[in-house]
Amino acid sequence: MSKSHENPSEKTHIRLSDSRYAVEFNVKFPIVHKQIPGWEEINPLLEKGIRSVGDKQKRSTNVKADMTDTRMWESNQPAHEQFEIICKYALELCLASSPPQTVKHLRLAVTDCWGVVYRKDEFTQQHDHWPALWSFGYYINVSPDCAPIVFPDANHAVQPKNGMMCLFPGWISHYVPKQQSNQDRVMLAGNITHLFGATARSS
Ligand SMILES: [Fe+2]
Repeated sequence: MSKSHENPSEKTHIRLSDSRYAVEFNVKFPIVHKQIPGWEEINPLLEKGIRSVGDKQKRSTNVKADMTDTRMWESNQPAHEQFEIICKYALELCLASSPPQTVKHLRLAVTDCWGVVYRKDEFTQQHDHWPALWSFGYYINVSPDCAPIVFPDANHAVQPKNGMMCLFPGWISHYVPKQQSNQDRVMLAGNITHLFGATARSS
């Protein structure tokens, strides 16, 4: 991480790493980023849809910015077709990023997907998406000086670019520091899970 980023300390949700049994590991996990084809046509429609839905969460989550409903691919949502396209790319990227010997066993589904508009001084406090298998962000309208997504346990940050998807394991802790730019940072995010079969134990 070349720049230091202020880690918003406010905390309303307990993280997996806060367990009293937590121990430190020194392991590697993928933080995948990829440009999505056709983003120039998709992004204006996504932004319009996200802005028309507006803030539905009222800062009740880790996201301290305007955040939409969490199932934006559903047919009653504006830009649901574009959300669906992005969710499909996210699933493809999950498969491409998973260990090859596991792919034939994977049955992946997007469980939630939402849009966010960060204005100046807005942020997301440190959190993870456990129990999601994979989580992703997709950048719709951002400026070169907008806030990055920061993975503090790896001392790593990813600078958003329009049309870029960033995919990472759902249990990886991350945050978005305060947006310093006057230009809004418009993005969407989502979670992906593996659908276990009927033989899976539930207890
Ligand atoms: Fe997140």
